[in-house]
Amino acid sequence: MSIKPLILLGAGGHARICLELLGLMDGPEVLGVILPAEEGHLAQRLGLAHLGGDDDLPDLARRWPGLAAIVGLGINGADMRVRLRLLKTLDALQIDRLTLRHPRAVISQHATIESGAQVMAGAIIQRDAAIGADAVIGSGVIIEHDAHVGDAGFIGPGAVLCGQVELGPRAVVGCGACILPGVRIGQSAVVAAGAVVRRDVPAGQRVMGVPAREVGEVTSSPTA
Ligand SMILES: CC(C)(COP(=O)(O)OP(=O)(O)OC[C@H]1O[C@@H](n2cnc3c(N)ncnc32)[C@H](O)[C@@H]1OP(=O)(O)O)[C@@H](O)C(=O)NCCC(=O)NCCS
Repeated sequence: MSIKPLILLGAGGHARICLELLGLMDGPEVLGVILPAEEGHLAQRLGLAHLGGDDDLPDLARRWPGLAAIVGLGINGADMRVRLRLLKTLDALQIDRLTLRHPRAVISQHATIESGAQVMAGAIIQRDAAIGADAVIGSGVIIEHDAHVGDAGFIGPGAVLCGQVELGPRAVVGCGACILPGVRIGQSAVVAAGAVVRRDVPAGQRVMGVPAREVGEVTSSPTA
């Protein structure tokens, strides 16, 4: 486990899950939380210091060389804009993200998990699957053999990616959705909660239903 100085971004539901997970992993102590000024009181509820907002990140990075972060922002509906903007800011400041793996996730020793990914409770990641940097694998998700999740992909609780599925960078899979074997989901696409996806989904498209059908372009996520 890294002993880098560590900060938490956000204090909502996703952040609280990450914080508990960090404790279960015997992770390093968190120096404090990054939140807009008007939400600073939420840091106290977590028993942590409020270190400032996004604008204070450059100063914090200077003050603590080797600073690492946990991105505690989830998605709003299927909107990842805030999460992606923060990841960009952290990249520019060379602030690494801590990789989180719940001790009760089942992860094949032949699977790869890239830096900054977050694997939540009860997830199953099978042999030769690959999880990209900063991807979120929600509670109880199943990633079957040889399936790939692109960088910053977000998979909601209970979704299933069957064998050899390819999920592009920044794509979102809603909770309980099922992607059938070998299907490719393009970058920044959104699969609605509960959808069953039988055919490839082009980049930036939104699909819904059983079987899933295209319902238009994603407007809430940058495609690059
Ligand atoms: C796909 C999704 C993004 C649509 O959100 P939205 O654009 O706000 O859509 P709305 O709620 O305005 O609904 C628009 C229409 O789509 C339908 N719809 C919405 N979500 C649907 C779903 N998952 N499956 C089927 N139909 C759905 C609505 O019933 C509505 O139909 P209508 O116009 O006939 O009444 C959202 O429903 C979703 O599935 N998000 C995933 C959330 C998730 O799993 N997050 C993980 C967090 S841990």
